[in-house]
Amino acid sequence: MWEICTHGPVKIIVGEVIMKLENKVALVTGSSSGIGKGIAIGFAKEGANVVVNYHSRKNLAEETVNIVKNLGRRAIAIQADVAKIDDVTGLIDGAWAMLGKIDILVNNAGISPEVPFLKVSEKTWDRVLAVNLKGAFLCSQAVARKMVENKISGKIINVSSVNGFQVEPGRAHYNVSKGGLDMLTASMAVELGPYNINVNGLAPGVITGTDIVPEGFMEDPQFNEAVLSKTPLGRLGTVEDCVGAAVFLASDDSKYIQGHTIIIDGGLSIQQYRRIE
Ligand SMILES: NC(=O)c1ccc[n+]([C@@H]2O[C@H](COP(=O)([O-])OP(=O)(O)OC[C@H]3O[C@@H](n4cnc5c(N)ncnc54)[C@H](OP(=O)(O)O)[C@@H]3O)[C@@H](O)[C@H]2O)c1
Repeated sequence: MWEICTHGPVKIIVGEVIMKLENKVALVTGSSSGIGKGIAIGFAKEGANVVVNYHSRKNLAEETVNIVKNLGRRAIAIQADVAKIDDVTGLIDGAWAMLGKIDILVNNAGISPEVPFLKVSEKTWDRVLAVNLKGAFLCSQAVARKMVENKISGKIINVSSVNGFQVEPGRAHYNVSKGGLDMLTASMAVELGPYNINVNGLAPGVITGTDIVPEGFMEDPQFNEAVLSKTPLGRLGTVEDCVGAAVFLASDDSKYIQGHTIIIDGGLSIQQYRRIE
């Protein structure tokens, strides 16, 4: 039910809802909860079919799949540990076989245990780097190879963090993984640009409604005060705050943006301590 009115050189389309990701296939790693789940649903609302990847919580992944299907899109859940190359191969091949292609990859899966630097074990260090950084490398390389082979002008979005450029004490391993991820974004942007693949990132600040930190962590009054005293917008972020930027980077609206990371933190990373009210 739509018509095109032509008025001079300007074309006005009346009555049609234009979706930004119609007929695209998106793979969102770690979309069984939190930011990844929000992005998967946000993409589906814009017309994309979605591959929901999860690590351990199948029931939550199925919940995301059902929400996407109820929006009228196709969706499948695939278990894979992004830190393991065999799992990643299975994930990408399985997604491609079931949905026919991948236009958009969001490297979102991540973990963030809090351990003071003097106590970080080799095991924790290796695991955090493996999931947050190596996982993005493995998924991106496998997907980019297929995009190049099939001449797909794809989009790769890395979910980083303000911790990639600003130290949070107690998370040296995590901070380093996100700093590395930002450099992976830039490196891939340079090498994949000639194939018309856009590579960009998102750097959220403190986002509530996710499971990355233990329950109650974000609600702790001391933590809240510390964050809010440095946040010009005066509130913590929500998953929904991340979705618009993800849709933008996944759509053609951002097709000349390459190698950049959008910071979504209410201004947390630009403000120093406050001396006056
Ligand atoms: N929340 C924040 O304040 C914040 C701020 C900045 C950046 N971020 C980044 O945002 C991303 C999403 O975090 P979130 O806060 O939404 O956390 P979350 O709710 O805990 O979600 C993490 C997701 O990653 C998946 N995952 C974990 N390890 C995995 C692995 N080895 N292989 C595949 N999937 C794995 C989880 O799957 P299962 O459910 O199956 O375990 C889950 O779906 C992370 O990269 C995080 O660093 C978050």
